[in-house]
Amino acid sequence: GLPPRVEIWEVGARDGLQNEGSVVPVEVKLEFLDRLAGAGLTTLEATSFVHPKWVPQLADAEQLLAGLDRHDGVRYPVLVPNDRGLNRALDAGVDHIAIFASATETFAQRNLNSTFDDQFAMFEPVVTRARKEGLEVRGYLSMCFGDPWEGVVAAEQVVRAGKRLLDFGCSQLSLGDTIGVATTNQVTRLIEAFGDTSALAVHFHDTYGQALANTEAALRAGVSTVDSSAGGLGGCPYAESATGNLATEDLVWLLEGLGVEHGVDLGKLVETSVWMAGQLGRPSPSRVVNALAG
Ligand code: HMG
Ligand code: MG
Repeated sequence: GLPPRVEIWEVGARDGLQNEGSVVPVEVKLEFLDRLAGAGLTTLEATSFVHPKWVPQLADAEQLLAGLDRHDGVRYPVLVPNDRGLNRALDAGVDHIAIFASATETFAQRNLNSTFDDQFAMFEPVVTRARKEGLEVRGYLSMCFGDPWEGVVAAEQVVRAGKRLLDFGCSQLSLGDTIGVATTNQVTRLIEAFGDTSALAVHFHDTYGQALANTEAALRAGVSTVDSSAGGLGGCPYAESATGNLATEDLVWLLEGLGVEHGVDLGKLVETSVWMAGQLGRPSPSRVVNALAG
């Protein structure tokens, strides 16, 4: 069956923008977040406290948090890779973080400058300290289906890595198809391999046009938190051939048709993505945005 309600985890301001070549002014990011909250989204991943040289687009994380006009009932999680990142996040008054591990060796090296094993040693104390400080912690796991350097990723490998993150104290685990290669049967099998689906979220990039189909497979397998980005913005600078995330508008259109509650005003969201496309100087890749923008 389907869940009665889906929690949309909007990653447009983080995943959506992190790969943008030219730096988007902080005022534009703040207006983007403000409009997303105005459209009814209640989880807005705001930025990353990563090394500014690794992701120059998000080097303004402190400024962004300081300028944030927090809407009631909206959470603003941020990515944190290590102790230094957690210090920065705590100084900025953040109350919800996400760590981000890799299911594969090569991507751990490319994205975190770490080995597969060492990434856990980096994340465990971050999760422990964050929890002690009263923060909520999400765990991301990347390359859960395929990896550009290693090919197909075995479900057992993903389950083992994911359970370690949950054991550290993450309250949610987001399964990332970083390069958008998964298809529906693989999604169903991986979720079934986890057994307990209550802490799972899914994070599909739409590189091969499979994100929406994979989302429905995940919903039918028991997942009720779905990551997406307004207008389908996005991509990871450290993963070859990673394009945008599942577009939030495409997701909302699906949920609407399925009768699943989502809380989003689609008209306001489309307006936001059209405005953002204007800021970036490039049309949105979302089919629903283009169909409704008129
Ligand atoms: P490193 O260079 O190995 O870091 O990077 P280090 O620990 O060796 O430290 C070197 C210097 O960096 C030190 O400064 C540190 O203080 C500083 P120095 O002593 O030389 O002056 N430093 C920092 N400064 C600011 N903030 C920090 C920080 N950490 C160290 N947090 C590191 C290791 C993990 C930091 C680096 O590899 C990094 O920042 N990686 C992040 C890459 C990234 O953001 N990727 C995109 C997000 S993941 C994603 O998109 C996938 C996802 O969407 C899910 C999916 O699609 O699958 C989540
Ligand atoms: Mg991503």
